[in-house]
Amino acid sequence: MRLLNISSIKIGQALSSSMVALVISIAMTSSHAATDISKIYNDSCAACHDSGALNAIKKGDSAQWQRLIERKGMPALIDSVKGGMIQMPAGGLCDSCSDDDYRKLIEYMSK
Ligand code: HEC
Repeated sequence: MRLLNISSIKIGQALSSSMVALVISIAMTSSHAATDISKIYNDSCAACHDSGALNAIKKGDSAQWQRLIERKGMPALIDSVKGGMIQMPAGGLCDSCSDDDYRKLIEYMSK
């Protein structure tokens, strides 16, 4: 009986700590999108796209971004960032960005 109790407490503890981990990771993923994109933007793309340095299209210049997205299409724009352009370094200073991050960053800048 005593042994049983101990092991059920242990199982209970293991379960509750993994529940906590699960809740934390759910909380982190759900806030991921909004906070991280603006943070990634600030840490990388903003260096040029905030001020329009080197003639980069500025964040918030929706008309110009919209024209570019319509003309080239999102997949081509993602490729441009990954491969770099004349002035833009490959990856746009974001080493850990996925294609999806680049898409979100482009959408973020076009708003
Ligand atoms: C060092 C400056 C710099 C950084 C950092 C930078 N860009 Fe750029 N970007 C440019 C410039 C300049 C252009 C215009 C094309 C050129 O001359 O290279 C450009 C063009 C683009 C384009 C248009 C591509 C096309 O096919 O016309 C996209 C999309 C883009 N940047 C996205 C990003 C994203 C997303 C990031 C951050 C992950 C980023 N850039 C970081 C300078 C930068």
